[in-house]
Amino acid sequence: MATVFNGLSFLQQRNSMPKLTGPGPDAAELEQMLQCALRSPDHARLRPWRFISIQGDRRKDFGELLRASLLRRDPDADDAAQEKARNAPLRAPLVIAVLVSLKEHPKVPAWEQRISAGCAAFSLILAAEALNYGAIWRTGAVAEDKQLLRDLGGADNEEFVGFIYVGRPDCNAKPVPTMVSEEFHRAW
Ligand SMILES: Cc1cc2nc3c(=O)[nH]c(=O)nc-3n(C[C@H](O)[C@H](O)[C@H](O)COP(=O)(O)O)c2cc1C
Repeated sequence: MATVFNGLSFLQQRNSMPKLTGPGPDAAELEQMLQCALRSPDHARLRPWRFISIQGDRRKDFGELLRASLLRRDPDADDAAQEKARNAPLRAPLVIAVLVSLKEHPKVPAWEQRISAGCAAFSLILAAEALNYGAIWRTGAVAEDKQLLRDLGGADNEEFVGFIYVGRPDCNAKPVPTMVSEEFHRAW
């Protein structure tokens, strides 16, 4: 029998963790995660991804930016909503903003670059789980806020792909749904 790659079960059981706590990855572990993301499929080697890690008290500064983002969208947001936005980054010890950095290329349209950056975001999640952390990909309306992007140092050709929250799981893993591949796959 062919050798079975034991990564299959790892991939099939991947499970996002909505509740995360510290400690988060240290610098060496973060570097390992980034090295995984940097191996994402990438047409023409454009490297169309950027990562901004936010940890420690910087999460509070980021929370203020999220609150400001909320108020731009909804100037009448009540105190509870503002507090929720402000505290959002405190839901994990590490938040990684993943950006796509779009480039003009004759053979690589923007959609390919966005997918490539999405693969990098997913790779961060897989790497986090491989290091025994939990992770979850979040977006929301803030992910389309160009001012927030600029506040984080993003450029005009960049967009958010998501925010990857990483930390120690602080909840029971939900049951992984059993999926029927026939609903999504057919031989042609
Ligand atoms: C692009 C993208 C954006 C997402 N945004 C959010 C979000 O803002 N909030 C959220 O709770 N889940 C969000 N999710 C879903 C979670 O990351 C996760 O997939 C979901 O909780 C289901 O868990 P599972 O991946 O373990 O099945 C997003 C997923 C993707 C791919």
